[in-house]
Amino acid sequence: MLKRFRLEDPPEVLVGMNTSDDAGVYRLTGEIALVQTVDFITPLTDDPFLFGQIAAANALSDVYAMGAKPLTALNLCCFPGSGIPSEWLEAILLGGLEKIQEAGAVLLGGHSVQDSELKYGLSVTGIVHPDQVIANAGARPGALLVLTKPIGSGVLFGPVKSGQLPGELWERILGDMAQLNKISSELMVEFGAQACTDITGFGLAGHALEMAKASGVELTIRTGLIPHYREALDIIRAGGKTRMTDLNRQVVAGFWHCGENVPPEEEQLLFDPQTSGGLLISISAEKAQPFVEALHARGIQHAAIIGEVQAAASPKISIKPDNNLKTRI
Ligand code: CO
Ligand code: CO
Ligand code: CO
Repeated sequence: MLKRFRLEDPPEVLVGMNTSDDAGVYRLTGEIALVQTVDFITPLTDDPFLFGQIAAANALSDVYAMGAKPLTALNLCCFPGSGIPSEWLEAILLGGLEKIQEAGAVLLGGHSVQDSELKYGLSVTGIVHPDQVIANAGARPGALLVLTKPIGSGVLFGPVKSGQLPGELWERILGDMAQLNKISSELMVEFGAQACTDITGFGLAGHALEMAKASGVELTIRTGLIPHYREALDIIRAGGKTRMTDLNRQVVAGFWHCGENVPPEEEQLLFDPQTSGGLLISISAEKAQPFVEALHARGIQHAAIIGEVQAAASPKISIKPDNNLKTRI
């Protein structure tokens, strides 16, 4: 919304508001740039500790998506004045703290306001070498796309809450959400990734488009290769969708080329909003397979190559039903 004010950035701003990146990056010296982000969410589980973990992992993810290292965090709490036991709120903060510590960052403080709806998250500050920022821009033709976590959690939330799907499935999904993108981020830096974004509210489609626009390329995504929760396709086939699904479809319309032979549920899966989703990474074709193997070896078990980057006159997302990559690995 602020884009229409066309703010003039000083040269220290390495990543500002123009590229829909996950975090802002501000150069302090020739060696160090500051990475700043803020994110908070409403609960997706009745387990307060786990909610705290997920909210923190979700906020830290925006620093990881820039290839940066989180250093400090501040709690952001919107807590109701009554109706929720104080042990519950304490458990949220402890869950968040655990993830901050796992990230190797420190909690410096925070701020609370009274709000009718509970929300929790973090403002996170990190650092990165000014020459090593991994932004949305930078995906080059010939590269491959890697996704590090499954998609489809958004549409499963409702059915799980209403008891239509087993609680164990949601437990597994929440576990994936609580997983930090730390290892994926460190490995992508090590392997020299070109571009990266994390997958959150706009779904794989919307965040892929941010990368396509910032990089000026076409991204081809092969539905047969996308890691996803199998149950999500069943729910979508039965008419399930989230509040965000249609909005996300509208966001990409005009840039979206979906093969006629792509089943509608597989297309819709790309519009499914995620919380604390994985990283979408553009990496050169020769490094992609060793990168995915390294991710698997470090426990990022669902990571997969899902498509490729192509030259295009204007940014575009193409969805193909097969799992045939044009670029040979
Ligand atoms: Co993000
Ligand atoms: Co975010
Ligand atoms: Co990024």
